[in-house]
Amino acid sequence: MSSFYVTTPIYYVNDKPHIGTAYSTIAADVFARYHRMRGEPTRFLTGVDEHGIKLERRAQQLGQTPQAYVDSMVPPFKEAWQQLSCAYDDFIRTTDSRHKQRAQELWRMCVAKGDIYEDDYQGLYCVGCEAYYTEKDLLEGRLCPIHKTPVEVLNERTYFFRLSAYADKLLAFYEQNPRFVQPEGRFNEVKSFVRSELRDLSLSRATFKWGIQVPDNPDHVIYVWFDALTNYISALGGPKVNGESDALFQQFWPQARNDDHEVVHIVGKDILRFHAVYWPAFLMSAGLQPPSQVWAHGWLTVDGQKMSKSLGNFIAPAPLVEAVGADVLRYYLMRDIAFGQDGDFSHENLFARYHGELGNGLGNLLNRILASIVRKTLEGRVPTIERSELHAIDRALLDRAQANAGTAAKHFEDINPNRALDAIWELVTAANKYVDQTEPWKLVKNGQTNRLHQVVYTSLEALRYLGLMLWPVMPNKASELLQQLGFDALHPEEGMDLWPNDWGKLPGGIETRPGKPLFPRFEPEQQLALLDKLKPKAAPAVESAPAPAPAAPVVAKPAAATRELGEKPPTNIDAFGAIDLRVGEVKLAERVPKSDKLLRLEVDLGPLGMRQILAGIGKHYQPEELVGRRIAVLANLPPRKMMGLQSQGMVLAAGDGDVLSVLSPGRDVPLGSTIA
Ligand code: MSP
Repeated sequence: MSSFYVTTPIYYVNDKPHIGTAYSTIAADVFARYHRMRGEPTRFLTGVDEHGIKLERRAQQLGQTPQAYVDSMVPPFKEAWQQLSCAYDDFIRTTDSRHKQRAQELWRMCVAKGDIYEDDYQGLYCVGCEAYYTEKDLLEGRLCPIHKTPVEVLNERTYFFRLSAYADKLLAFYEQNPRFVQPEGRFNEVKSFVRSELRDLSLSRATFKWGIQVPDNPDHVIYVWFDALTNYISALGGPKVNGESDALFQQFWPQARNDDHEVVHIVGKDILRFHAVYWPAFLMSAGLQPPSQVWAHGWLTVDGQKMSKSLGNFIAPAPLVEAVGADVLRYYLMRDIAFGQDGDFSHENLFARYHGELGNGLGNLLNRILASIVRKTLEGRVPTIERSELHAIDRALLDRAQANAGTAAKHFEDINPNRALDAIWELVTAANKYVDQTEPWKLVKNGQTNRLHQVVYTSLEALRYLGLMLWPVMPNKASELLQQLGFDALHPEEGMDLWPNDWGKLPGGIETRPGKPLFPRFEPEQQLALLDKLKPKAAPAVESAPAPAPAAPVVAKPAAATRELGEKPPTNIDAFGAIDLRVGEVKLAERVPKSDKLLRLEVDLGPLGMRQILAGIGKHYQPEELVGRRIAVLANLPPRKMMGLQSQGMVLAAGDGDVLSVLSPGRDVPLGSTIA
């Protein structure tokens, strides 16, 4: 039977978990859950990387032994992954003896192949990356291009790995496995690196002790990346060491090329080279199979800035989980960022998706059918219907559910969680539209029971599809949803495919359990208070231009009125240059309580992040008309309070009292584009 084995990088324990590391772990968990619910033998590994000079020095600074130090840093990782509902099957530590033994065994296998030799090493090393550099890789002043800190000059006798001998073998392997590295663009970078500069790799260090001893030479420790990469097989019991079982290794690691053991390493783009070049070369040398795929995701910034301790914008997952729950954070990260590309974490954006897609979209769909109709008029039971009597509009929705389940499955299989969620959300939108069109509340009022049953059944079926399809990303909310529909929580089992594969599986007559709203609203003040608590304080606000001169006239007056008022005196281009006009997209729109004029908008300005803007257009627009629309925004106004709410920016509109039109760009320009 085919199997699926997914791994995260093992994280250095000198940092606590943050949303960057959480991103890799959540993604791996999503894919593991997807394959588990398909009934495939599935294994999900995560863990920590505990050796190396970086950790030895950190322990020294703290006056601790390295072992005591790393021991103290492991629990936060396990706790964070548990809080985020990341259900790993195994957690490997590189200080585990099962790991050390097997890293040494892999070393011996490479020695036996003749690929490890001793020589003098002279070179440049970044301790932060635990990686070797050449002069031409460095920034001016011999700074590491990633950490921007000076590299160290090494001059010692070490063991080398004959990496240069693997260039052709790697290139042939890449040729035969065209999906080995994803996304494709990154694969090209890997290939050109291998083509141009594959030199032998220093594989041991003799100037510090905190590592795994080189077999037969206690003066050397194994290079931390050789040690770390081995975790992916040592956790499975491979390579086999005397007398111990390697059953998991046999079950989950490819034993021949393109057998049906699929192994996917999820890594950040920063560590792709180690995984796509060194790791397959070590395995080839040892006579073992490389993994099936290395998937390099992008890098997360926070409000447009790199996460760093000095900027004080490290975001820990725990407070976010406490505020919105694990599933919402998982959903946001998987939905907002195209897997493989860099993405920006924005708290405002997270809340906008919470209220818009989750609350108004999915939560509302469940609520309007289950709480408002099934509970009140159908005694809480799923109606029984004749499949053959369904109307075309019902069938269209159910066919859509089936088609999108197929599309979402394909995207999960291809490691495209954001596209899987696009397909799932298409169904949320279609189902809400279906309810709008079929108006079940009117059917109740008019006593059209048979039709009401059909409409309710169809809507509940769509919700069943959604509950199942969302389980990999939102396991807790999806289970709640399914339980409200009357099902038991989902317990995937090997050999049992739980992915929805046909409509009509919702049994008529079962008792539903309408419960609390899945995504209760935060009142605007509550949200502001949470934002204030959650947002990193030290991160400088995104400033795009100096504060403008007195507010510019952004609502164009109609021609007649302008003539009446007379034209404005001539100005110059500098006055225009002081204002920052941008294209944004309305993610959420709602009326401000007790005001018939004001709408509260949440507007995505791309790289400038999300803005809350209060616009005096409530007499001219229904909030729904604006959601999803691209609009023009004056972005560099100082924040201002109206009706107790903060507004940061202004929406451009043309017209006057009677007719007013919010301006939109005529073409699909990227969010945040300047208007000039
Ligand atoms: N220990 C090595 C990995 C060894 S794997 C055999 C390492 N550890 S790390 O702690 O630095 O974590 C690296 C991984 O964490 C990245 O590759 C990425 O998966 C994740 N991320 C850390 N910061 C991140 C962001 N800001 N954004 C996205 N992912 C990030 O390298």
